[in-house]
Amino acid sequence: MKILVVGGGGREHALVWKISQSPRVKKIYCAPGNGGISELAECVDIAAADVDGMVRFAKESNIDLTVVAPEDPLALGMVDALEDAGLKAFGPKRDAAVIESSKVFAKNLMKKYGIPTAEYRIFDDYLKALGYAEEAYYPIVIKAEGLALGKGVIIANDINEANKTLKSMMLDNVFGQAGRRVVIEEYLTGSEVTVMVFTDGKNFVPMVSAQDHKRVYDDDKGPNTGGMGAFSPSRMYTPAIARQVEETIIKPTVKAMADEGRSFKGVLYFGLMLTDQGPKVLEYNARFGDPETQVVLPRLKTDIVDVFEAVVEERLERMDIRWDDGAAVCVILASGGYPGAYKRGYPITGLESLLEDPRVTVFHSGTRKEGREYYTNGGRVLGVTAVAPELGSAIDRVYESVRKIHFQDMHYRRDIGRK
Ligand code: AMP
Ligand code: GLY
Repeated sequence: MKILVVGGGGREHALVWKISQSPRVKKIYCAPGNGGISELAECVDIAAADVDGMVRFAKESNIDLTVVAPEDPLALGMVDALEDAGLKAFGPKRDAAVIESSKVFAKNLMKKYGIPTAEYRIFDDYLKALGYAEEAYYPIVIKAEGLALGKGVIIANDINEANKTLKSMMLDNVFGQAGRRVVIEEYLTGSEVTVMVFTDGKNFVPMVSAQDHKRVYDDDKGPNTGGMGAFSPSRMYTPAIARQVEETIIKPTVKAMADEGRSFKGVLYFGLMLTDQGPKVLEYNARFGDPETQVVLPRLKTDIVDVFEAVVEERLERMDIRWDDGAAVCVILASGGYPGAYKRGYPITGLESLLEDPRVTVFHSGTRKEGREYYTNGGRVLGVTAVAPELGSAIDRVYESVRKIHFQDMHYRRDIGRK
């Protein structure tokens, strides 16, 4: 088979790595890919959101299956376009991807179908939103309606912070159209867990649980990032909670989407808060999470291409998906300054010293390869991932490996997995 993966970050590197283990696969392309991915796949210079370019390439190259990983091409209807051209694609169509691309849609869906989530109100008028914020109990959570690179969620501790956020989103349009409408919701407390499921629109198979670390510094200090690390499984996600989540959240969501005529096929991501009143949905994503994928896929024992096909052909019900019982931890090595401004182009050393150990894999998020050397090429640069029978030994192993890698101004969190 010839497979095309759309995207070019750590998540896509993990996908390409897993796909490359399938004996059924002859050739992998990745568009646009990155330096690390180029070891396993032929990188094609097409932007992830270039729907027409991607369809043209997939057709010309006789691609058997295209895996659309990032949210932007999904929201733009890349899967619809590929299918219209007679090609097979893994991922939700545009009308199902809306579960991520519109927070208003997601909240209203949960309300209509009784799926537990934070209480909320929707505003498209700044003054009305401000009036509501003036009467609210703090903290409150303000979310831009559309896709905002994970930066569209602000927790406001008082009316001044709330007003600043509402102004920048609704009047100054810092997120463009994505922030013209906002959701203001109740602040939930508890433990956060990520659960992703494969679903063919009718049936679903949950993956092992994970937890990511969004803040830039240790002890969850500093601004939010695209993710500074992750581990799997979550200690909080017990079998009893898993059953409750499946009954009260996952099953009703998959059914709700089908009932709405928006059958969801692909990976559905549940960002959950385990509260005193039970598990509640913080957010849905219409795709694999980043960096959670870097710790979940190393634990997958089944051929991922078989799983993708079962989803596309709507026969997930008969699929037995197996997981490793151990643990995985991923630590992101970031450029100095990230998540603010940072420089690119620094040489990376020490990678070859990790090639020997099959329990350690380095997924590249932002690198460029020139000759045999790698250079930094993004805010998040590498995701060093280790597996072990226990979480504790996976943590020790990952940090031992991290200490062997260097680039100028590199920084990372030292507490991944310790929460
Ligand atoms: P999201 O992009 O929706 O996942 O939100 C980013 C982060 O904001 C989440 O991972 C949570 O840590 C936090 N968050 C979102 N919604 C809430 C909420 N209702 N209560 C508390 N924290 C929240
Ligand atoms: N880890 C959160 C996300 O992928 O959006």
